[in-house]
Amino acid sequence: MRKVLVALALIGASSVPLGVFVAVNAQNETPTVQKTTKPQLERQTAVPWTGSPLQFEYPNRDETLKIPEVFRALKIGKGSRVADIGAGGGWLSTRLARQVGPTGTVYAEEILPRYVSFLQERARKEKLPQMKAILGTTADPKLPNDLDAVVILNAYHEFDKPLDMLAKIKTSMKPGARLGFIERDNPDLRREAEAAYRATGRIKRRVTEQSDGDEHTDDHRLALPIVEREAAAVGFRKVGAMQLREDHYLLVVEKPLAR
Ligand SMILES: C[S@@+](CC[C@H](N)C(=O)[O-])C[C@H]1O[C@@H](n2cnc3c(N)ncnc32)[C@H](O)[C@@H]1O
Repeated sequence: MRKVLVALALIGASSVPLGVFVAVNAQNETPTVQKTTKPQLERQTAVPWTGSPLQFEYPNRDETLKIPEVFRALKIGKGSRVADIGAGGGWLSTRLARQVGPTGTVYAEEILPRYVSFLQERARKEKLPQMKAILGTTADPKLPNDLDAVVILNAYHEFDKPLDMLAKIKTSMKPGARLGFIERDNPDLRREAEAAYRATGRIKRRVTEQSDGDEHTDDHRLALPIVEREAAAVGFRKVGAMQLREDHYLLVVEKPLAR
């Protein structure tokens, strides 16, 4: 079938090159992810966090992120099978594990082997056998199938192959299952990032265990419309978005029911 490349104009920080290239089926206009190893995005992605896995255990984070409301919006309850992608030190995974209880499962996924070991040890120490650590790659989180929900907390802006990741995540979800993105953005952060780009030549080179010579920024912020468009490009349906506290937002999308 004939495919055309389309650049979707994205809304966001004006100094960042914007646009995501997806292959669109010319007959029915259904976007599909382009099978290529070439960069999929014109927006820059952030340098992945490689510091202490406990960095994100700060006070009041439950209140700031309105965790009970997030769980309600994603329909996560006792017995749910859930994945936390880019789990870091497991701040959210442990909360998810308590929410799903012993009859549920939480897959705490990471790309850094060091964090995966930390997550395994944390699950053991906190007596949460329902929390399982998974080592993924930047293009495939290696999740099991039949997930009821997936959460990506402050990590999507670091994914350097976000469309590949979303396509794989979608395959692992049940029809009707929900995916929640929690990211940060506001006009002040946008202005700050623009000033930093101007002052530093805009891009910093990534230095991590995953180092592949790609260029990434230090800007850990992502505009909501960008996430909405990328999720739509792989076939997710938007359910809704809500403002959390401070500069965080939650976007909820779902895998459409099979026709
Ligand atoms: C800022 S930390 C947030 C950690 C955790 N979600 C939290 O908020 O407590 C972002 C995490 O995303 C992970 N990450 C970056 N790119 C990733 C990818 N392509 N797939 C999975 N995880 C990724 C990093 O290793 C890092 O631990």
